[in-house]
Amino acid sequence: MAVAFRGSRGGGGSGLGGFSLRSFFSYRIFVSAMFSLLFIATLSVLFTTNPSTSRHDSTLPTTGNAYVHRTFLALKSDPLKTRLDLIYKQANDHVTLVNAYATYARKLKLEISRQLRMFDELAQNFSDLQIKPTYRESLFESEGPVDEDVLRQFEKEVKDKVKIARLMIAEAKENYDNQLKIQKLKDTIFAVNELLVKAKKNGAFASLIAAKSIPKSLHCLAMRLVEERISHPEKYRDDEPKLEFEDPTLYHYAIFSDNVIAVSVVVTSVVKNAQEPWKHVFHVVTDRMNLAAMKVWFKMRPAGGGANVEVKAVEDYTFLNSSYVPILRQLETAKLQKFYFENQNQAENATKDANNMKFRNPKYLSMLNHLRFYLPEMYPTLHKILFLDDDVVVQKDLTGLWKIDLDGKVNGAVETCFGSFHRYAQYLNFSHPLIRERFNPKACAWAYGMNIFDLDAWRREKSTDQYHYWQDLNEDRTLWKLGTLPPGLITFYTTTKTLDKSWHVLGLGYNPSISMDEINNAAVIHYNGNMKPWLDIAMNQFKNLWTKYVDNDMEFVQVCNFGL
Ligand SMILES: *[C@@H]1O[C@H](CO)[C@@H](O)[C@H](O)[C@H]1NC(C)=O
Ligand SMILES: *[C@@H]1O[C@H](CO)[C@@H](O)[C@H](O)[C@H]1NC(C)=O
Ligand SMILES: *[C@@H]1O[C@H](CO)[C@@H](O)[C@H](O)[C@H]1NC(C)=O
Ligand SMILES: *[C@@H]1O[C@H](CO)[C@@H](O)[C@H](O)[C@H]1NC(C)=O
Repeated sequence: MAVAFRGSRGGGGSGLGGFSLRSFFSYRIFVSAMFSLLFIATLSVLFTTNPSTSRHDSTLPTTGNAYVHRTFLALKSDPLKTRLDLIYKQANDHVTLVNAYATYARKLKLEISRQLRMFDELAQNFSDLQIKPTYRESLFESEGPVDEDVLRQFEKEVKDKVKIARLMIAEAKENYDNQLKIQKLKDTIFAVNELLVKAKKNGAFASLIAAKSIPKSLHCLAMRLVEERISHPEKYRDDEPKLEFEDPTLYHYAIFSDNVIAVSVVVTSVVKNAQEPWKHVFHVVTDRMNLAAMKVWFKMRPAGGGANVEVKAVEDYTFLNSSYVPILRQLETAKLQKFYFENQNQAENATKDANNMKFRNPKYLSMLNHLRFYLPEMYPTLHKILFLDDDVVVQKDLTGLWKIDLDGKVNGAVETCFGSFHRYAQYLNFSHPLIRERFNPKACAWAYGMNIFDLDAWRREKSTDQYHYWQDLNEDRTLWKLGTLPPGLITFYTTTKTLDKSWHVLGLGYNPSISMDEINNAAVIHYNGNMKPWLDIAMNQFKNLWTKYVDNDMEFVQVCNFGL
């Protein structure tokens, strides 16, 4: 039941890296659908607070939503406002799509910076309109009936903005709906494959391009899920939080990811191998852009076996703001932003320098990645939680992990060092006196990806404060360069308990020589590295261990060419 993702591998016959008419047409349909929705979306932007597509999404205040919500609750009886309430709810879905559209454009690395700026500006103009004192007073904050004259004036201004939006979309359409661009993406992936074969040395950074250029299938899936929600809003109302979410007697998992198919594989593999699946609770946290898609997926395809899934967005955790979280504060300094995001379009050039490339990959600093340092605050009622990366597959019942005595330590993890490799010296700058004083360069590193955290011990040890202390010191990036492992190694230096290696076998995303015995015996296998199982460049011998948990019966998975 091998799942072959669309792309160059295995497509030698066509001479175009397996590019097929079928995928081209489904792409076209998908793009046109996106544009029709985009138009409605620009209009609906009006009803939400500043849905900026900037990189600072996670720090935007959400108080505006609360305000609108309150207003509508207070004025339920006015039919005009009830209608506004409905539009407002729909608008939220549509804005998701706008953000999706912008991100999709970024991922394709089109010449889009000017257009993206325009869209941001337009969104800003729309929301400025909303907070204009005259409108605010008589339309949004008024206790009495809506003033029709003001409403008409308001409508006119909206229409003007919509006209601009139409022009912009017409212009954008020309750029995006373009076969050449699709070919360019395919060529990139093809080139990566070639490089991998030809030059092992270049492989590491070449595959980073592929890791960054998320395949069309993943975008297609997210879009389909969002469209599904827009067409059937009544089916996808938010449920009340379940009591299970906070029940400390159950087995809780934290999965932080923006990849719907990957998360579904993790959840399915846990549930299928659990002896008592109804006792397992998954806490999925994603970004705002993928929230709707993730929710719709788990509504359409529940985890099964009575397991529970909670889906939230990073933005739902309002305590994670820049006055509390150093990494967000640091991101706000213009210098760092420039460092990471400038010249994204010149990624090809950047491949000349592997480190530089890795540096600029936004994956390395997204808040979603740093959420792992806030588990006790995110789940205040829980005592233990299992942290899983989205590129793992679970092959056994995992409840034994909750029973392991951690000796008062915070983090249960497998060690990864051998010989002189994967020791602290490799991750931290031991030329720096602060590092040299505190840590042993020969200390063995451990792995993220499957960690059992004792949240009570974490609270007692104040590990989050530790993390904050060091992250603050690293503002100039002299202690370590990037990622969450170095600060993790620092934070849990004295509070990590080593687990038996069979709990977590790593390297399926880069190391072709792992023994099959070791893999078959593992409770969790981890595709860390760049050759992810959902990419063309995945290693064939390991791919099936992942694809066998892909939900091939799901209609959108079929439509989006996941399984062929
Ligand atoms: C936004 O408003 C400003 C000031 O009114 C205007 O100059 C600008 O062209 C508008 N931008 C868009 C995209 O509508
Ligand atoms: C930021 O989060 C802290 C708690 O972590 C909270 O006390 C504070 O009010 C928040 N600030 C803003 C501006 O939301
Ligand atoms: C790549 O770098 C070279 C030299 O630094 C420059 O001339 C060229 O324009 C760059 N190419 C792109 C696509 O940025
Ligand atoms: C390591 O720390 C030293 C001392 O602060 C500093 O001079 C050096 O630039 C750092 N190295 C890196 C690669 O940041």
